[in-house]
Amino acid sequence: MSAQRIGLLFGGKSPEHEVSIVSARNIYNAIDRSRFEVTLIGIAQDGKWYLENPDNLQDKQCVIGKDNIQLAVVFGNTGNKLMRLDSGQYLQDVDAVFPITHGPNGEDGTLQGVLLQLDIPFVGPGVLGSAVAMDKDFTKRILRDAGIGHAQGITLYKHQQAAIVFEDIEKELGQVLFIKPCNMGSSVGVSRATNREEFFAAVAEAFKFDTKILVEKAVIGRELECAVLGNELIEASTIGEIVMEKGFYDFENKYVNDNAKIYIPAQELSDAQLEKIRETARKAYAALGLEGMSRVDVFLTEDDEVIVNEPNTLPGFTAISMYPKLWEASGLSYPDLIAKLIALAIARHQRDKQLQRTRL
Ligand SMILES: Nc1ncnc2c1ncn2[C@@H]1O[C@H](COP(=O)(O)OP(=O)(O)O)[C@@H](O)[C@H]1O
Ligand SMILES: [Mg+2]
Repeated sequence: MSAQRIGLLFGGKSPEHEVSIVSARNIYNAIDRSRFEVTLIGIAQDGKWYLENPDNLQDKQCVIGKDNIQLAVVFGNTGNKLMRLDSGQYLQDVDAVFPITHGPNGEDGTLQGVLLQLDIPFVGPGVLGSAVAMDKDFTKRILRDAGIGHAQGITLYKHQQAAIVFEDIEKELGQVLFIKPCNMGSSVGVSRATNREEFFAAVAEAFKFDTKILVEKAVIGRELECAVLGNELIEASTIGEIVMEKGFYDFENKYVNDNAKIYIPAQELSDAQLEKIRETARKAYAALGLEGMSRVDVFLTEDDEVIVNEPNTLPGFTAISMYPKLWEASGLSYPDLIAKLIALAIARHQRDKQLQRTRL
């Protein structure tokens, strides 16, 4: 079989721009070159698409668009969908795209919509699953409807900010609260609050990033993660654990300091607990309409209740990222995982191509 050409799409208009570059570098370095050729496409912070070269991606200071080869996408063509603006030449067609673009504009269905319009198979969930999973409020509604454990929460809108009554929220959710923007990631804008003053500071912070925020009752439990993949047939990996020395899994603990220890697999989980978490992760994935892949993050309470915190539809793929490491620990190597995700993207595309698009 001749090699397939994969478009690796990274960067993006998101606070997770830099994380995305690191994820892309790792995928590029791990992908099986005997099976795949890679076209690197970077999305700059301003949203422009550029053709990238591998040297720039490998550079720790990588700034997208260094060569200034801007790309245009051309809708409606069977081939010839990506054009260099400097020369007017089309890029070689890709068989699939691997978007490793975290957060808003990359993981929330908008980019997935562009790829769908271009009729290019792509890795990860489709438009609806991506959009729902990005929105913590809608995720909660679906989990509630499906009878899956979730943290109790209240949704607040920016246009009603002046009318927020702390005492009402405290009465309903208790004193220890988590406040977060509904559409964000990497813990950006997420705070813990235990009193009125902290609460309003947290609300103001969260509203910087979204017009809709969520106040949640703090869940007391272990923080565990499960890697899930598949379209119709859904597979769940072994379980990983995040243990914090202090505080919660905020941006600093995620990326800046060494306070968070990651255990793969999680220690001291009984077979029954393990199975319950994997089953809940698969159920949540199906209920949320996810396909391709997602990392499903949960809490396990003292009385063995599994509370789904959130799905991440394009999880980190850095060298230390949980998603590929969980699969490695489950017997699927990083290069084989990439190949499997690409195969799932193509299979879904072919499946949906069979659907009738006209009435007769
Ligand atoms: N209801 C909650 N109870 C306890 N901890 C929480 C709760 N919500 C969030 N956290 C903590 O905050 C972190 C970030 O919140 P999360 O909802 O996962 O946002 P993000 O999408 O930015 O990762 C979690 O990993 C967890 O440590
Ligand atoms: Mg999270």
